[in-house]
Amino acid sequence: MRLAVALLIALLGTPATASDIEVLHWWTAGGEARAADVLRQRWQALGHHWVDAAIVGGGGNSAMLVLRSRALNHNPPQAAHLKGVELHEWAKRGFLRNLDDVARRGQWQLRLYPFVSSTLNHQGHFVAVPVGLHRVNWLWINQSLFQRLELNPPRNWEEMIQVARRFKQAGITPLAMGDDPWQLAILFEAIALGEGGSDFFRRAFVNLEPEVLSGTQMQQVLRRFHSLRSFLPANHIGLKWNQASQMLVNGQAAMQLMGDWVKGELTEPGNQAIRCLPAPGTAGKFSYNLDSLALFQQQDAEHDQAQQQFAELLMSADFQQQFNRVKGSIPPLADADLSQFDPCGQASAKALQHATQHGDLVPSMAEGMAIPSNVQQAIFDLLASYFSDPQGDAVATARQLARAVSAVSAEQ
Ligand code: BGC
Repeated sequence: MRLAVALLIALLGTPATASDIEVLHWWTAGGEARAADVLRQRWQALGHHWVDAAIVGGGGNSAMLVLRSRALNHNPPQAAHLKGVELHEWAKRGFLRNLDDVARRGQWQLRLYPFVSSTLNHQGHFVAVPVGLHRVNWLWINQSLFQRLELNPPRNWEEMIQVARRFKQAGITPLAMGDDPWQLAILFEAIALGEGGSDFFRRAFVNLEPEVLSGTQMQQVLRRFHSLRSFLPANHIGLKWNQASQMLVNGQAAMQLMGDWVKGELTEPGNQAIRCLPAPGTAGKFSYNLDSLALFQQQDAEHDQAQQQFAELLMSADFQQQFNRVKGSIPPLADADLSQFDPCGQASAKALQHATQHGDLVPSMAEGMAIPSNVQQAIFDLLASYFSDPQGDAVATARQLARAVSAVSAEQ
């Protein structure tokens, strides 16, 4: 229903005036909305108008549905939160404004990490502006609950299971998480990275090698993933990621496995009760989610001019500082000053450096950085139905994974 209303409003659209920027995004949870507000205020301070097209729904599925229908109706917004492999899908269809002019003037090539540039580059042209770099492989723990039970944070998945059992025995939900396919995929890929390592991760989720997708290592990862079902909250069906974070903050749950947008949900910035740790087995590894805004091609010069200014604002060091500190990410700028960031932000930057030097920087499959959206969807569907089935068969699921991925890839 909510989506239907959002679709209707979105399709009718608001007629934009010359310096309007209508921005479609899904930054609607507490910290996310505050981050979007930083952008809105900065844009308005330059004398422009901001038209908000916020579409509720973590992971962005609903937002992407709205965007598709608006584009088909020749009414796309001027800007949209679009990222990773999907950028290329939109660019291929000719929707996105080429940003080479702004990039050249702003020396993007020098300022951005090389993997950031290549994520945003379609056939040699910049097609989106990067706004934040999220690390996905984080474990958030409620420190007081760990202290109360005299437990150490888990360093690998074996320890994770032991710790989870102890919390369960004590009547505390071990792992706060909902059943959205993308939330499940974040857990699954963290296990794959933690137990299989970066090469396994890349061979499975970047190269999509059938023998790796169906192999014994993948079967083990699937088994481990399935074994975590018993540690979720009783109300996990339909639980949103930010509601899960609230359980952690309120002391109803001990842990959450989620990207660092969680920081925006902690009641106080730098909340002492909640600690960030690398997901088990992934210390020094970094699975990235690059948030970016793409600009949709405009027919008139005035809108085009407004888009240029918008892109320049997004890339200003000043904006990136303020925005990322609220959003929980770090700036994707190689020369960013991190001295004002909280300890998790600084740890993220350190992990990024370490991972880059040691071949442990991987694109998050769950966050759309690694593979085409239809292949990602096929993996999501399989993982969700395997996870929800109490009898889930790891060997059969691994085989289906390889088969489904080849079938969908062949459609490209
Ligand atoms: C986005 C983040 C957002 C998160 C939860 C991710 O897909 O990249 O910016 O905070 O979803 O909504």
